Amino acid sequence: MKRRSFLALSTVASATLITGCFADAFDDKDIPKVKANAEKSLVIPPLIEGAKRGDAYHYDLKIHESKHWFFDNVLTDTYAVNGTYLAPTLKLINGQDVSINYTNNLSETTTMHGHGMHVPANMDGTAHQKIAPLATWSAMYRVNQKACTNWYHPHALDKTAEHVYQGLAGLIIIEDEESQKLDLPRAYGVDDIPLVLQDKFFDTNGQIYYNPTMHQTMMGYKGDTLMTNGVLNPYVDVEAKEIRLRLLNGSNSTVYELKLNDNRTFNQIAGDNSFLEKPVEMNTLGLSPGERAEIIIDFTASLGKTVHLEESRQGKTFLKFKVSKKAKETTKVPQELTTLLRYNPKDAVKTRHFTLSGRMGRVYINNKTMDMNRIDEVMRLNDIEIWEISNKKMMMMKMEHNFHIHGTHFMVLERNGSVNNVLENEKGYKDTVYLAPGDRVKLIVKMTDYVDKKVPYMYHCHFLEHEDAGMMGQFLVV
Ligand code: C2O
Ligand code: CU
Ligand code: CU
Repeated sequence: MKRRSFLALSTVASATLITGCFADAFDDKDIPKVKANAEKSLVIPPLIEGAKRGDAYHYDLKIHESKHWFFDNVLTDTYAVNGTYLAPTLKLINGQDVSINYTNNLSETTTMHGHGMHVPANMDGTAHQKIAPLATWSAMYRVNQKACTNWYHPHALDKTAEHVYQGLAGLIIIEDEESQKLDLPRAYGVDDIPLVLQDKFFDTNGQIYYNPTMHQTMMGYKGDTLMTNGVLNPYVDVEAKEIRLRLLNGSNSTVYELKLNDNRTFNQIAGDNSFLEKPVEMNTLGLSPGERAEIIIDFTASLGKTVHLEESRQGKTFLKFKVSKKAKETTKVPQELTTLLRYNPKDAVKTRHFTLSGRMGRVYINNKTMDMNRIDEVMRLNDIEIWEISNKKMMMMKMEHNFHIHGTHFMVLERNGSVNNVLENEKGYKDTVYLAPGDRVKLIVKMTDYVDKKVPYMYHCHFLEHEDAGMMGQFLVV
C-alpha cells in the first residue's frame, strides 16, 4: 500500500479533474491522475445459491488480488472474492447443510468470518481458523437461524481493517419458511436490492489509501469518498412500487445516518439477525459499522422522480433511485412480520460487565487488549446472562463504539438505565449494538447448540481500527 502525502479526492459528478488538496506543497506527481465519475449504474453483487454436492450445498469462493474500476481512467488495486471488488452474495436456506469453501489466493494469510452466523466456534472463521496462501478452508455447518441478512469478511488478527478496506466483504442472505411466505419484494437486485455502504480514501493515483493516523485510529478512519457496492456516484432504476433494501454498513469505522433527500418515511422490517416483529416507520436510520437493516421504501407514487439515499452526517449521497418504470407486481408491507422469542431477565444467572475505553492511542475492553492466548470469559451452554456494556466517557475524549458478539444473537434490554430508551428498531435479534459516548446498554444473551472447550468465539468493537488495536476479547462456551 502506498504511503505518500495525501490528497483528498472529491467525487462530485461534474468535476472532471480533481484539484481538492490538503498537502501544503505538491509537485507534478501529486496532481491527481484520476477522473471523478459521472453517474454510473449500480452494480449488484452476483448471487450464489450453492451447488448440491453430496449432502451439502457448496459455495466455492476465491479470495484474490484484483483490479477494479472505481474511476473512469484508472484501475485500482483491490482484494476481492471471485470478482474485482467485494464478494458474491450467498443465499442460504435455514436447515440446509452448507460448505462454504474459501480458497486464499492472496500472498498473505487471511480468514473468513460469517458475521451473524450461529455456527460452532471452529466454523466461525476467526484468527483461530487461518487460511494460509493457496490453502482452502471450508465453513461447514447446518444453517440454524431465522431469516436475516448477514455478511462475511476477514478476521485475521490485526489485519481485519486492512483486508476489509481492500475490498473483502460480502452479504449472506438467509431465508426460512416464514420469510418466503411474507408479502415482501424478493427479486434479488431488482426490488430486493443489496447495498454494501462504505467510504474510502484514495491517493492521487486512484489507489486505495489505508494509513490511519493515531487520531484516525481512535476517532474513526472516515473516508471522504462514499461508495455503494463499490460504485462511486451510482444510480439504480426501479419500478414505482415498494422496494426492499438490504443495507450493510461495510465501512471500517464510520457511523451512517441514512435518510432520503425528500425526507419521506420508510419502514424498517429487519435488523441484524431477524425481522422486527412489526415494521418500524422512520425517516432516519442509524447504522454503525457491521450493522444491517432491511427497509422498505414506497415508490408507488413516485413515477418519474429521482430520490437520493443520503448520509446526513456528511451530507453526501450514497445512491440515487430513478423511479422510471411502472410496477408489474406490487407488495404491501405486512404489519406482522415475525414472532420473536424473548428471554426473561429474571431467568438470568449471571451478569457480566464490559467497559469500553480508550486513551493515548490505545483502546480497551475492561482495561485489556486482545490476547489470542487468553480466554476472557467462559459461558455455560443455555445459561441466560445479562451483558452490560458501557462506553466510558473519558474527560476530553468522546469516542463512539459498538459491541459485537459472535456465534449468537442478543436482545437489547435497556439503554442508559431504561427500557424506554431502547429504540424501536433495535427490538429484534441483534449481533452488534451501537454506543454513543457515555452510553450504557444491557443485553440479554444465551449461547445455544454449540460447545467447544478449546476454540473460543470473540466479542469486540466493530470499528475495525479499534478491533485491530486490540478492542476484542474471547469467550468459550462449555
Ligand atoms: Cu464482523 Cu468479529 O466480526
Ligand atoms: Cu462476527
Ligand atoms: Cu470502538
